[in-house]
Amino acid sequence: MNISAVMQAVQEVSTDVLIVSAARKTEKDEAGVQLSATAATIDKLLNGLVGELCTDGEFKGGLGELLTIHTMGQMTTKRVIVVGLGAQDKITTQSIRRASAVAARHAQNTGAHQVTLALQWNETQSETLRGEVQAEVEGALLGLYTFRMYKHTEHTSNGNSVSQLNILTESSADTASISQAIEQGQALAEATNFARNLINEPPNVLTPAELANRATHMAKQFGLEYEVFDKAKITELGMGGLLGVTQGSAEPPQFIVLRYRGGQTTDKGMALVGKGITFDTGGISIKPAAGMDEMKGDMGGAAAVLGAIQAIAALKLNINVTALVPTCENMPSGTAYRPGDILRISNGKTIEIVNTDAEGRLILADALSYAVKEGLSPIVDLATLTGGIVIALGNVTTGVFSNDEQLTHEIVAAGRVAGEKFWPMPMDEEYGEAIKSDIADIKQTGGRAASSITAAKILEHFVADTKWAHLDIAGTSYLENKKAYQEKGATGVGVRTLAELARQLAR
Ligand code: BES
Ligand code: MN
Ligand code: ZN
Repeated sequence: MNISAVMQAVQEVSTDVLIVSAARKTEKDEAGVQLSATAATIDKLLNGLVGELCTDGEFKGGLGELLTIHTMGQMTTKRVIVVGLGAQDKITTQSIRRASAVAARHAQNTGAHQVTLALQWNETQSETLRGEVQAEVEGALLGLYTFRMYKHTEHTSNGNSVSQLNILTESSADTASISQAIEQGQALAEATNFARNLINEPPNVLTPAELANRATHMAKQFGLEYEVFDKAKITELGMGGLLGVTQGSAEPPQFIVLRYRGGQTTDKGMALVGKGITFDTGGISIKPAAGMDEMKGDMGGAAAVLGAIQAIAALKLNINVTALVPTCENMPSGTAYRPGDILRISNGKTIEIVNTDAEGRLILADALSYAVKEGLSPIVDLATLTGGIVIALGNVTTGVFSNDEQLTHEIVAAGRVAGEKFWPMPMDEEYGEAIKSDIADIKQTGGRAASSITAAKILEHFVADTKWAHLDIAGTSYLENKKAYQEKGATGVGVRTLAELARQLAR
């Protein structure tokens, strides 16, 4: 996508669509609409048309509400889209991000190729303006994202999509800081969309080996160090969890390590660990057929950490980050692991297998042990780990399980900046009772009650006393239905929050 900052008068905008914003004066529907400065200028150019549409009740300024005006030669832009930001005193960068996504998607779906964005609400305070510009770029790029690679009619042409975004700001704005805001928004959105592509790819294409290829290709592009361990090396390292899960699959497992070094050479830096099950059939404890296709997204944690380290490199943050991705398939076959098996994880602890569908914790146990052995801290893992978290928090909020209150708080706060919701879950000792085994160190599952928490308690066994947080993204990584601001399928959740967390830790 080509994105440029333009400093021109509204009258001179000549793209297919110009997007501006308006808010509701108060929470109440009937309170009336407050136009942004740019929307007010357009209203004058169109002899009061926008104002009249608002008084007539065509447009109320609700968040994501759209009003399309065809200028019929009265302006050089063919269309103006006014998008609502909701109640004026509740406007945040997230309102701008969402509104931009909804409006840009609508423009694309109705044939626009060149779009000018001017959604900024506050043009006077430079810090706020920067944040708003970044959010509108992020929102637009996330909203415009589609996955059409495998559609015969669409995969070769770009005929259906927006190819140019102009960001219109008042000439008084500081150009350097606006350009920087655009670049940051673009870096974050592109990293998110990179993760979304990995998740949306079908599982026959995105095998563990292909995931490793995409990761190393990205690493070269962004100047990251990389290593991929093959099965022989994984065996040498004693990663019995990863080896157990992969045992039923014809695809070889991989253990991907990417390193970004932007911090002090003496500092080991943080670890980002992502679950990389490229397809989860459940194994011998096979899943029901309905909805099993969605289990191609069981590498959403892997995608998120790869996207995050891409973003961190693109933003050149002053911090050292290592991304660790254990990846394999979970398949049933004559060679598959069984309920009743006991696996030995690389830190020496044994796990009694109860249900082969609880595979994520096994491969993560090896990756967390590896992070501890390397002395990385803090460790943040992301995983589409449990159905339980979908029951608890739906597709709205990601559950945070941690041994450190401050880290939990930092993740929730980073999420707020990035526009992603996180919430702490309890990790009390009592939950550990359910995963005691008579014949091994740990039992793999703790039954249906509090299944997301008992899963996190298993992971806790492998982080020693390192500061650690586990983010269960099973509900938030993949949308079954599209939203006005987003296409169905992968959301890329975690990428922007992890990048923001790294930015906070870098200071
Ligand atoms: N990958 C699934 C969890 C999942 C569920 C992800 C729904 C995305 C959407 C995981 O491997 C799994 O199967 N978990 C089981 C564990 C159970 C058998 C102990 C679960 O949570 O139901
Ligand atoms: Mn499973
Ligand atoms: Zn799984």
